[in-house]
Amino acid sequence: MTTAQLVAGLDIGSAKTTAVIAEVVGDLPKHPTVNILGVGQARTTGLRRNVVADIDESTRSIKKAFEDAERMAGAKVTTVYAGIAGEHVQAMTSTGIASVTGAEITRADVDRANAVARAQSIPQDRELIHAIPQEYAVDKNVGIRDPVGMIGTRLETEMYLVTIGSSPAMNLRKAVERAGYKIGELVLEPLASALAVLTDDEKELGVCLVEMGAGTTDVAVFHEGKIRYLGTVGLGGLNVTSDVVHGLGVTQADAERLKEEFGCVYEPSVDRTDVIQLPSTVAQGDRQIPRELLAHIMHQRTSEIFEMIVREVQQAGYIKKLAAGVVVTGGAAAQPGTAELASDVFGTGARVGLPGEFLGGLADNVAQPRFSTVVGLVQYGAHRVALGGATSKGRRFSTPGSGQSMDKIAQRVKTWLQDFF
Ligand SMILES: Nc1ncnc2c1ncn2[C@@H]1O[C@H](COP(=O)(O)OP(=O)(O)OP(=O)(O)O)[C@@H](O)[C@H]1O
Ligand SMILES: [Mg+2]
Repeated sequence: MTTAQLVAGLDIGSAKTTAVIAEVVGDLPKHPTVNILGVGQARTTGLRRNVVADIDESTRSIKKAFEDAERMAGAKVTTVYAGIAGEHVQAMTSTGIASVTGAEITRADVDRANAVARAQSIPQDRELIHAIPQEYAVDKNVGIRDPVGMIGTRLETEMYLVTIGSSPAMNLRKAVERAGYKIGELVLEPLASALAVLTDDEKELGVCLVEMGAGTTDVAVFHEGKIRYLGTVGLGGLNVTSDVVHGLGVTQADAERLKEEFGCVYEPSVDRTDVIQLPSTVAQGDRQIPRELLAHIMHQRTSEIFEMIVREVQQAGYIKKLAAGVVVTGGAAAQPGTAELASDVFGTGARVGLPGEFLGGLADNVAQPRFSTVVGLVQYGAHRVALGGATSKGRRFSTPGSGQSMDKIAQRVKTWLQDFF
């Protein structure tokens, strides 16, 4: 009997910081089950366009979120899986070739080809965070998922490499360390959310994940089971709020409240006779507006964001490959009418994604679209545990050479085994 392993996730967003503590209970490598033990949240202002801009403020929110999560879980954690996103993220495809040494292709041959693909030179000011094997070619046969056991002489791999800016990563690490925690691994936020809300069938058929937060909207397209495209639009729920502020002459706090109480991003589904009372100053007097007007403002901005995404996905060549449609998640996906609008703009089926599958414990506490990223982060951590590659402190890699090359090796081991994206 083994003791359950704890994993912790940390999502620092532009509206809120969320921490989740969970235990890994199942040990199936593909879908380990995690029991949610604790959840903590803190409002944030320390992030600008998804990059830590105020370290003290971020540190405060991390402390607060973990204090709550730890109290609820009755456990203390030290190492956390933290999400990262923003316009500094870049993705590219890289190929690697290895000659097959024996009669048939072994795991070692695959590892070698992947290592070649990953050895792309990464500029000094960037860090590699994910190296995801896409598919393989054996001699002239392309599109192979798992070449192990096949006969051939030349093995080629195609990898998806995701890099981030070093300085945003450094600031994030600094904020986390000052709060008293250590980052086990950085995970790209939309990939974490995808783990939490997409089904294997959707990823196989082709799906566009849209993570609409406060400051940014992130996009991840999956097709034939693999990540194919990542993108980001520098607009989110906060822009919807600003439009309501300007359009209706209300404060930011009132705009947020109106959005939550009466909002809808799909104008046609609002009853034309509905009227809402606006908060007003003495000078403004008593103010009533048709609810349709609020919906109109929200509809305009949200559809603009969706249209930008459609253009990006079109340019990437995947708009016709979304047989499973669109899944919208992130805090702003809680806006009523989200699925209807997404379906209209993308011209496909659409649904709102919330975490829930393969979750136990206090799963109800995280069954909302704003928790997708942080739940995905603990699920990512659980995959690591199940694969036996969890980043634990005190682990050493025995390699000769300088500290720099030690880091490089550690980095390489960390980015290994990412077949689950
Ligand atoms: N019920 C709701 N109705 C309308 N909007 C909502 C609702 N709930 C949350 N939102 C919006 O969702 C946004 C917050 O989303 P989320 O919590 O995912 O942001 P974040 O992760 O902090 O931001 P980001 O990922 O962009 O840095 C806010 O703009 C908020 O107005
Ligand atoms: Mg977010």
